[in-house]
Amino acid sequence: MSGNKTFTMIKPDAVADGHSGAIIKMIEEAGFRIVSMKKTVLTPERAGQFYEVHKERPFYADLCKYMSSGPIVPMILEKENAVADFRTLIGATNPANAEEGTIRKLYARSIEANAIHGSDSDENAAIEGNFFFSATEQF
Ligand code: PPS
Repeated sequence: MSGNKTFTMIKPDAVADGHSGAIIKMIEEAGFRIVSMKKTVLTPERAGQFYEVHKERPFYADLCKYMSSGPIVPMILEKENAVADFRTLIGATNPANAEEGTIRKLYARSIEANAIHGSDSDENAAIEGNFFFSATEQF
């Protein structure tokens, strides 16, 4: 995976609250093409691997517990300037600080249960996409 792609997951709170369809609609209407998508569950161990970069942060254990608490919808997305444009679409990490009309402003419950993830660089988008999807699942 390379170029204008990003990786996202609809997080357990938004899936449980029935917002997956509305979020996917917003993503497509914003011009992203869905390259890969599935509904799955992270074990606590797999969540720990995914968020390993944050393992020294105080919220790491709670984040891993939360991210393995229910189904998620991971996706690889394609669009010009994908990483930056997607982070604009989802809004600030803390929904209290997110712009009106962003996915987190509309659908997040809290800073932890903040509805959706978006990669922070092209390099991490590739790593994160490959964490969930094999080469034959990316097209
Ligand atoms: S980012 O996107 O990496 O710049 O955001 P950052 O603030 O560094 O947060 C990294 C991920 O940790 C989650 N997070 C938290 N979880 C629980 N409690 C608290 N206080 C908290 N602060 C941040 C945040 O949602 C990020 O998750 P992802 O999945 O990367 O969006």
